[in-house]
Amino acid sequence: MNSNSGAAPSPLPSSSRAGGDQRPYGPVSREVAAIGQGTWYIDDAHLPTAVDALRRGLDLGMTHIDTAEMYGEAELVVGEAISGRRDEVFLVSKVLPSNASRRGTIEACERSLRRLRTDRLDCYLLHWRGGHPLEDTVAALEGLVSAGKILSWGVSNFDVDDLDEVLAVAGLGRIACNQVLYHLEERAIEHAVVPWCERNDVAVVAYSPFGHDSFPGPRTPGGRVLQDIAANHGATPRQVALRFLVRRPSLFAIPKAAAPEHAADNAGALSLELTEAEIERIDAVFPRGSRPRQLPML
Ligand SMILES: NC(=O)c1ccc[n+]([C@@H]2O[C@H](COP(=O)([O-])OP(=O)(O)OC[C@H]3O[C@@H](n4cnc5c(N)ncnc54)[C@H](OP(=O)(O)O)[C@@H]3O)[C@@H](O)[C@H]2O)c1
Repeated sequence: MNSNSGAAPSPLPSSSRAGGDQRPYGPVSREVAAIGQGTWYIDDAHLPTAVDALRRGLDLGMTHIDTAEMYGEAELVVGEAISGRRDEVFLVSKVLPSNASRRGTIEACERSLRRLRTDRLDCYLLHWRGGHPLEDTVAALEGLVSAGKILSWGVSNFDVDDLDEVLAVAGLGRIACNQVLYHLEERAIEHAVVPWCERNDVAVVAYSPFGHDSFPGPRTPGGRVLQDIAANHGATPRQVALRFLVRRPSLFAIPKAAAPEHAADNAGALSLELTEAEIERIDAVFPRGSRPRQLPML
């Protein structure tokens, strides 16, 4: 077993990966693709190519799409990509903390729904902890659930003290997910956030799973290990990285790809299986490190 246990890796049994690795998402009544699609900066790309990338991802099983009101025109790109196929998608967006008052949350959600050209979100997140009382934000989110505008709600960038607070406000079984920074070179969430979420049935969604723009290259020791493992499977280093990140049943990852070939590559991680020994090699070359004082965020 790895030396820095705690939240020790436990790969999913292969049966869990049938049908493209859909898995329970906290307390939500639907299963969700373990590997989804991020959309931050997707609006910087050539529009038809970005739409093709998202649709290619959907075709290949990455039916979990993450966006946010903060991401410029990304919601418009997503709206175009999912037009005619809304029912295939587990659609997530986020309210900015500055908008997360009781009334502001509802208005922000309605704006997102218009940009996304849909009548509902599957999950709606508070993007990070801000100045509005959590009681007000949670009341608004619960109102949106009752109105059928969102299926579920969650949080993002919440460390355990914030999670304790939102749990006290909302009660068990209400928080669908916590979306947090997690990639091979940034494993801080494994110390306390992942165990907290697993104890309380909250899905953990890894954002920036490729480090945003710093994926370990083939000349680094870690990159060589990824390449070596990938070669054993006829896979790619990024597929290996994604599979490592979702090795526990509570974990999901949302890589962003504006290029259709990148989306296709990432979708390959849905059916990859790593051995316990391979997971240990990755764990050793990308060590978890000690627990930072503050939860890192991008
Ligand atoms: N909640 C939060 O606070 C928060 C913060 C950050 C991000 N997020 C979410 O997490 C998502 C992912 O994070 P991210 O966008 O920061 O970065 P990321 O997914 O770690 O990396 C994206 C970069 O990797 C490239 N890429 C993707 N797949 C590739 C492949 N198979 N081969 C080669 N290059 C590939 C992309 O290129 P191309 O685009 O050119 O294909 C892009 O440059 C975001 O889009 C957003 O939805 C949430």
